Amino acid sequence: MKEKIDKQKVLSRIKQLRELIKYHDYRYYVLNQPEISDYEYDKLYKELKQLEEQYPEFITPDSPTQRVSGEVIKEFKPIKHTFPMLSLDNTYSENEIYDWAERISKYVPLKNLEFIVEPKLDGLSCTIHYVDGKLHTAATRGDGETGEDVTLNVKTIRSVPLTLESKHKLPIPKFFEVRGEVIMFKKDFEKLNKELQQKGQQTFANPRNAASGSLRQKDPKITASRPLRFYIHSYGKIEGSTKVESDEEFLELCKNFSLPVIQYFKVCKTIDEVVKYCLEWQNKRDELEYEIDGMVIKVNQLKFRDTIGSTLKAPRWAIAYKFPARQATTVLKSVVMQVGRTGVITPVAELEPVECGGVTISRATLHNFDEIKRLGVRIGDTVLVERAGEVIPKIVKVVESKRTGKEKEIEIPKKCPVCGSNVVKEEPEVAYRCPNSSCPAQVINSIIHFAKREAMDIEGLGESVAELLVEKKLVKKLSDIYYLTKEQLLSLPLFKEKKANNLLTAIERSKQKPLSKLLYGLGIRHVGEKAAEVLAERFSSMEKLMQASEIELQSIPEVGPVMAKSIKEFFANKYSQEIITQLKKAGVNMIQPKVEKKGAQIFAGMTVVFTGELDSMTRTQAEEIVKQMGGNTASSVSRSTSLVVVGRNPGSKYEKAKQLGIRIIYEDEFLQMIGQK
Ligand code: IVH
Repeated sequence: MKEKIDKQKVLSRIKQLRELIKYHDYRYYVLNQPEISDYEYDKLYKELKQLEEQYPEFITPDSPTQRVSGEVIKEFKPIKHTFPMLSLDNTYSENEIYDWAERISKYVPLKNLEFIVEPKLDGLSCTIHYVDGKLHTAATRGDGETGEDVTLNVKTIRSVPLTLESKHKLPIPKFFEVRGEVIMFKKDFEKLNKELQQKGQQTFANPRNAASGSLRQKDPKITASRPLRFYIHSYGKIEGSTKVESDEEFLELCKNFSLPVIQYFKVCKTIDEVVKYCLEWQNKRDELEYEIDGMVIKVNQLKFRDTIGSTLKAPRWAIAYKFPARQATTVLKSVVMQVGRTGVITPVAELEPVECGGVTISRATLHNFDEIKRLGVRIGDTVLVERAGEVIPKIVKVVESKRTGKEKEIEIPKKCPVCGSNVVKEEPEVAYRCPNSSCPAQVINSIIHFAKREAMDIEGLGESVAELLVEKKLVKKLSDIYYLTKEQLLSLPLFKEKKANNLLTAIERSKQKPLSKLLYGLGIRHVGEKAAEVLAERFSSMEKLMQASEIELQSIPEVGPVMAKSIKEFFANKYSQEIITQLKKAGVNMIQPKVEKKGAQIFAGMTVVFTGELDSMTRTQAEEIVKQMGGNTASSVSRSTSLVVVGRNPGSKYEKAKQLGIRIIYEDEFLQMIGQK
């Protein structure tokens, strides 16, 4: 009897754990809004796995532990599609979108049509069949008629439910086929490539290849270890389901079943609106966590899709708008070596200028010498360049077929190209660096960093002035900027009375900045803006920070061993000590003012982000108030953001907050919270 009760208890815990895991998978992979840490998630998973091992009779096929099959796939079986997985015709300009609308208006008047517009995900298409609510089969697109059976692998994708769940008591369909794209997030792709590289394995050229290579693994365990995602964008055969009349309704129905639906779809009533939405995403594409190569425009109402029809290859009722290509081929003319603030030498490719996605490119980063080795690139090579998320273009690969044999190897410099010091490499770092802290290149870049807005905020001390000061030997080390005289400045080209006065005032004003800004400005390796703030608040003076031991530093949650070591090294260095002494002598503040905690601590434990302009105060003032009321502020939205305050003309942070489901308030509500209304 007792045994029976115990077993009942185990079973109910198992069921509870399965529900919890399913819920958190959904939050993480579908909504992108995790509620618990990876650690807590792993704990739940381990507990379930253990209980199932003890009581194998309770294992069910839809248990989260059953996502990964022990089987190895011998060959991918062919699966005939229920009906063809068509491709899409492409357009490349606004005009071509209007032409398409004109073509379909012959079938249905434009005024009756609605369009659903959504990002074109750069992944691989896949179809999934649910039979009586259970995941039955999954297949790749293949040639459009027949695909490959990848069921065991798709089951390992955690955003894909193994069983459909009905949230509003809608009937579970007898047969429900969803089609979509398997993709990999950009950050996951970078991480995977790093891991593969460390293991000495072949890396992937881009997230799409990584997604495809991961899905088409013979061992589902490998697929399970790859962070794949699936987003539904269309449907296949459907039987015994609630009737839907539009694509939008279909997507909503999918959401009801907890299926992962494509994000940012929008129903537009006019083609003007369609074009506007496409161009909006063309500008914003880099903000997404995954790559998109265009937008897909589809007729929303299903009855009109039937009227408009399809050709053998592609539907007439849909079209892809492809973004301008951001890749081009050109010739690598030479490589220049740039020396950064910390002495790191970065090889930069000088290219034969080439047009790429609307801009002319003549330079590309090569990151470091390992990258040169990996690419196997030589001077004179024809290379494929790409302008991706970041502003600086990069070299993707060498076009080997264009080799003539006359290409020259890129040599690692033995001497710093600026000051001539012997170059060093500190294992295990990949970087080669100039060890001379007074190397003019290092001094120029340190000044630029020191003077920027987020640091000491010295207006008028940008790149060109920093270069002039160092070139004319008025500044040999960072602290010299506080000893500049008006006469010296007036001796510089383009410096007149007003400009010299303004710069001197800005330099003088910077002396009052809090310690946190100074620490960040000093450019201690691994110490970013946030870390500088934490350190300044914790130690309150430069003196105390300089005395702190490595262990003491490491006891601060935000400071890891690498940062702690770097801080100690910085302060032990004679050159840094001299700079700090000189700064102190010049009257630069070395204290962190105590933030007086005023009023109720209503933002305690919260991280608040502002976007757009506020009418009642400046952003800095608003941030100050949040800090006084116990909160933290950040400049970008992430999963750890607690609250986003939206002002006039908000930027992308607003979209990101919506996407992540973070609490959003407007200025009025903010003022109410802080008691100013
Ligand atoms: S709708 C009838 N929507 O693009 C075709 N396709 O070039 C229905 N794709 O094979 C496709 N994102 O796999 C659609 N939002 C999206 C898409 C999308 C990516 C892929 C799809 C198709 C290919 C066509």
